[in-house]
Amino acid sequence: MMSQNQLNLNTKRAKVIAIASGKGGVGKTSLTLNMSVTLAKQGKKVLILDADLGLGNVDVQLGVTPKKDLSHVIAGTARLQDAITPTPLGFDIIAGRSGSDTLPFLTNMERHNVVKELSSIAEKYDYIFLDIAAGVGDEILVFARFADYTALIATPDPSSITDAYAVIKLLKLRHDITNCKIIVNQAGSEVDALRTYEKLKIATERFLQIDTPLIGYVTNDTNYMQAVRMQKLVVDAFAHLNIARLIENVASKL
Ligand SMILES: Nc1ncnc2c1ncn2[C@@H]1O[C@H](COP(=O)(O)OP(=O)(O)OP(=O)(O)O)[C@@H](O)[C@H]1O
Ligand SMILES: [Mg+2]
Repeated sequence: MMSQNQLNLNTKRAKVIAIASGKGGVGKTSLTLNMSVTLAKQGKKVLILDADLGLGNVDVQLGVTPKKDLSHVIAGTARLQDAITPTPLGFDIIAGRSGSDTLPFLTNMERHNVVKELSSIAEKYDYIFLDIAAGVGDEILVFARFADYTALIATPDPSSITDAYAVIKLLKLRHDITNCKIIVNQAGSEVDALRTYEKLKIATERFLQIDTPLIGYVTNDTNYMQAVRMQKLVVDAFAHLNIARLIENVASKL
């Protein structure tokens, strides 16, 4: 089967990055937001698709009220195009769902339709982030196949490392997808981050024979939570601090 990537070789297309993790709560959404605002400030056109349909709420965190969201797209009452919502931070989002309606469980066909429509708007952006749910569910497959690569976020927590490994293994063994890269988040230090990455790298090389490059790392930082309390992103609230440099570094290596 031809992949979306092959179909789109001749058109200028955004770099599409699926943001995934084995374990939840490792920083997928907040890093995506911080990287997006960083890239937007550099003049890049960025779109975040909240593909974590159950829990996303990227829109709530940003204080925007999307008129249309993925639930309308899936119900057939809106095109994906119409669900694009600009944010005051300079990037666009497509919300998973807005308000209190629960989004129906997506079938694979519906996910494929979302991805198909997404490729038609990809020319308008430099970067598209797919914020996908933690774990090894079906959505990761559809979105990972569409993406240029999957950025797996892992933390030094041993279960986060084994769960990230499990995602990489599933993508390779069941679906022959091997283009995974790593971002280490919530590291105690650079040494801690590199040690975490090494564990994952050694396992994927030895047992899966694949190379998973490190994009970069972000340390665990109290200013991160402080910014959340101020309802700001850390790269904005604490632009002068090292945490902002680390996030900028990750964004520049994408
Ligand atoms: N580097 C960091 N330093 C301190 N706190 C962090 C850091 N990264 C993320 N957090 C905090 O960890 C929590 C989880 O982050 P976030 O919601 O982005 O994770 P997630 O992977 O999207 O979670 P979920 O799997 O539930 O979607 C948030 O409260 C966030 O502020
Ligand atoms: Mg999230």
